Amino acid sequence: MLMDQVQETIAYIEQKTTLKPKVAIVLGSGLNSLADELQKPCVIAYKELPHFVVSTAPGHQGNLIFGYLDDVPVLCMQGRLHVYEGYSLETITYPIRVMAALGIEKLILSNAAGGIDIDFAVGDLMIISDHINFMGRNPLIGANETEFGPRFNDMTFAYDRELRGLAHQTAEELGIKLQEGVYLACTGPSYETPAEIRMFRSWGANAVGMSTVPEVIVAAHCGLKVLAISCISNMAAGILDQPLTEEEVLATGAKVSHDFCRLVKAITAKL
Ligand code: HPA
Repeated sequence: MLMDQVQETIAYIEQKTTLKPKVAIVLGSGLNSLADELQKPCVIAYKELPHFVVSTAPGHQGNLIFGYLDDVPVLCMQGRLHVYEGYSLETITYPIRVMAALGIEKLILSNAAGGIDIDFAVGDLMIISDHINFMGRNPLIGANETEFGPRFNDMTFAYDRELRGLAHQTAEELGIKLQEGVYLACTGPSYETPAEIRMFRSWGANAVGMSTVPEVIVAAHCGLKVLAISCISNMAAGILDQPLTEEEVLATGAKVSHDFCRLVKAITAKL
């Protein structure tokens, strides 16, 4: 049973730290530096954790870090797991189940995404208001363990309205420009084609990426409140007359990292 595995992971974590955060933060591509700001960090590598798999994506360190962000206890995933690494959706969302069983109540997810909305600019931050799952699968397929959540879980309020409001209010206070929109998830690892991007725009997607949606589905299943922030690291395929590169994605992440960290820290302080 999945819950038995989760309890084994938790037993290992509890030997390493007594901290019981209510907030968890998942750091996406190019946005890892927030983890360096944690005070009194307890770093646990994914590779030492029972039932965790390692992160192989560029720029994803693969550490679970417990610590304080300006006096607020938090759990940080420094680097996430992706379906394009060859892992199942069940495997990449396992850490979310561990978080829920540890007592996490609010989850802040971040990612790098391609901008589909032509009113967006590279370097913008976007609050995700809703998503389109174009990964072709759902992480909840299979036997349902009711200790986690119901068989058919509601996704209407998956992106918590109050947290989105708090994010906008905080961004305004800090003078940070914040967009909002619908995130569409593909498996990758190829970037999309220009024809796919035109289709996604007609469907109402504002940004595209290769993560987050499976985690949000499982978080909703476990009853976590979610805030998700995309860093528009590049304009999606075909919008500009230039190829897409991993270097651009990571470089933009590094450039907006300062504002991203300020925003997440200020939001966390209000939770
Ligand atoms: N497409 C998919 N995933 C991404 C992109 C993109 O353009 N940019 C960053 N992650």
